[in-house]
Amino acid sequence: MARHKIGLVGAGQIGGNLALFAAQKELGDVVLFDIPAAEGLAKGKALDMQQMSTIEGFDSRIVGSSNYDDLKGCDVIIITAGIPRKPGMSREDLLETNLKIMTSVAENLKRVCPNAFMINIANPLDAMVYALKKITGGSRQKIVGMSGILDSARYKAFLSMELDISMKDITTLVLGGHGDDMVPISRLTTAGGVPVTSLIKPERIKEIEDRTRQGGAEIVKLLVNGSAYFAPAAAAIEMAESYLLDQRRVLPCAVWLEGEFGLKEVYFGVPCIIGKNGVEKVLEFELNADEKAGMAKSADSVKKTMAATRL
Ligand code: APR
Repeated sequence: MARHKIGLVGAGQIGGNLALFAAQKELGDVVLFDIPAAEGLAKGKALDMQQMSTIEGFDSRIVGSSNYDDLKGCDVIIITAGIPRKPGMSREDLLETNLKIMTSVAENLKRVCPNAFMINIANPLDAMVYALKKITGGSRQKIVGMSGILDSARYKAFLSMELDISMKDITTLVLGGHGDDMVPISRLTTAGGVPVTSLIKPERIKEIEDRTRQGGAEIVKLLVNGSAYFAPAAAAIEMAESYLLDQRRVLPCAVWLEGEFGLKEVYFGVPCIIGKNGVEKVLEFELNADEKAGMAKSADSVKKTMAATRL
């Protein structure tokens, strides 16, 4: 059986880490793609990682390229092509520039690998994955956004720090758009099965949720010249792995909704099963009034940014 092939569009900070994580997990062979002006970056990182593979002992071929034809036959594509935020910028401020980039990326992907499972990471995330779906004409099963895993990871990290317990024992869910209105569901968040609402005072949970919402901005401020890259890369690889290995993991992802949670025609972070067909199912559940209001507010923000794409 041929190895899986993973195409990474964008060989920058996240792209490089995606390549490393995919190769280290031996998910398949990796093509690290970037524009001709950054071909050396893609090829240099690929060569460095190929040499690293002999030390770490992983069997993946990693190549760099600026030729879209090299993405033919890809089973999975992960997109990070676009500019990251600078301090003080919102994700929405990236729309104009990143939409142009996404338009060109999506047109090319439609030509070379229309049936790949495509995961978008570029921001503003929900609007960019909407553009990707519109332009490629792909199905909701195959065109998804990476957001909820990252947002949940941030929430989990802050909760494990607060409670001074292993992050392995925290289960949580952060839903909604990948923006300042995301909706952490503290009601369903547990530490080893114990509700965190009985371990942490409500005011403190609110502070942790606010820090989660600003989790990306906090890192942008610290890095000054870019945005987070380790956790976003790891999150997208978790989605790719579930698809390629048909793991049927339940993961919060940005999915095109068709009535679930009372929302339709919007890309929105919801829990879903990812298996060999891509998004196999959205797992719906009853929300309380506060959660519903949070979801409605977040959906409005996402719809506004989607509309600004004029697609
Ligand atoms: N096609 C392919 N790659 C492109 C294109 C294009 N049309 N235009 C730009 N790129 C490449 C750049 O050359 C660069 O190497 O995208 C890469 C982006 O890398 P970084 O600037 O390092 O950004 P990164 O931190 O990886 O973030 C990428 O993900 O989380 C989001 O907000 C973030 O939108 C940003 C994206």
